[in-house]
Amino acid sequence: MLAGDQGPLIRKCFQVLVTLGDIYGAERMIEIKNVHSPGVSYRVAGDAGLDYVKEASCQGRFVVPTTLNTTGIDSENWRAKGFPEDFALSQLELNAAYEKMGGLPVYTCTPYLTGNLPMLGEHVAWGESSAIIFVNSVLGARTNREGGPTALAAGVTGRVPAYGLHLDENRRANWLVRVEEEPENDRDYAALGYHVGRLVGQDVPVITGLKKRPRLEALKAMGAALASSGAVALYHLEGITPECPNREAVLADKYETISYGPKEKAEVLDKFTLGEEPDLVVLGCPHCSLVEMREAALALDGRKLKTDLWICVSGPVYEAARRAGFTSILEKSGATIMRDTCPVLCPTSAKGYRAAMTNSGKMAHYIRGLWNVDSALRTLEDCLKAAVSGRGDQ
Ligand code: F3S
Repeated sequence: MLAGDQGPLIRKCFQVLVTLGDIYGAERMIEIKNVHSPGVSYRVAGDAGLDYVKEASCQGRFVVPTTLNTTGIDSENWRAKGFPEDFALSQLELNAAYEKMGGLPVYTCTPYLTGNLPMLGEHVAWGESSAIIFVNSVLGARTNREGGPTALAAGVTGRVPAYGLHLDENRRANWLVRVEEEPENDRDYAALGYHVGRLVGQDVPVITGLKKRPRLEALKAMGAALASSGAVALYHLEGITPECPNREAVLADKYETISYGPKEKAEVLDKFTLGEEPDLVVLGCPHCSLVEMREAALALDGRKLKTDLWICVSGPVYEAARRAGFTSILEKSGATIMRDTCPVLCPTSAKGYRAAMTNSGKMAHYIRGLWNVDSALRTLEDCLKAAVSGRGDQ
């Protein structure tokens, strides 16, 4: 590959991977099973990213299955939803270039809900912080934090350098978290993740003391929060996640211990409160599962909204929800279902919104700076009640 026998794109991409491996002291390359490519939103990629992918698409194809991350528009319905034409056309060009390379157009931060589901111990190359932490922690597959260019390089070569979280020694926990208040819902798991992420930064925590097994949506929420208040790419849950039958199996020789109880939970929830009634509710960060679409449809059946409600979802989950009748219930209530995108990655800034409510720690964290709004972190049920009543005091 480095000699150029397989063409200039593969040589260039392999050089990128060799340079990366040299920086991190990798001794070899590893074959990977698949890629989840970030850098798909034109808002992030810009013209430089668009040109890079267009040029690559004229020279080669992905050799392993490669799913594509969230974009900057609802690609099925961008005009009706008010996305600026210039931006949308550039985004569609970027989508087309990735698809020409064989990228799978799921356009989501939850590729594991749309068929990209690596198994325990498999090596992959994923981008998007909430997806990286899910694949490492919940599935037990192995990835570093890939950016757009390195994910593309991994996709066309089928290789990554062996360093970081691909190696056993870097998957050990250097923080022990004692949970003293059992989370009761997905929002509580997000609050737990937010608190722990703030303290541990880029390290690996093992979380102990949970009595109940969290559902998939709770782990989706917790991982996204851990990766946004901090930069956590791997956590273990004692007795729950696949590499952690017990804490001894994952703890490093040296580690720090912290506790999470009612005081720490209150600190997170107090940070995310509104001083006025919400004028926007956002669900689906990371993108909604079919289960969440069902819960929202059941809660809003026959009701009308008083605030704007964005529900962010992948195309494949949208299609399943449409067949189940959920999307028509949600749209009749006045909800806006955003396929392929989300407030963080789309260009639509705020429409004058001032106060957003969400069940996502990640969205609550980012929407403040990006849209210059206040944000509150509440349960899915309370978010939907607030969207119906127009009041935040649920
Ligand atoms: Fe996904 Fe956007 Fe949240 S990419 S994780 S919905 S910020």
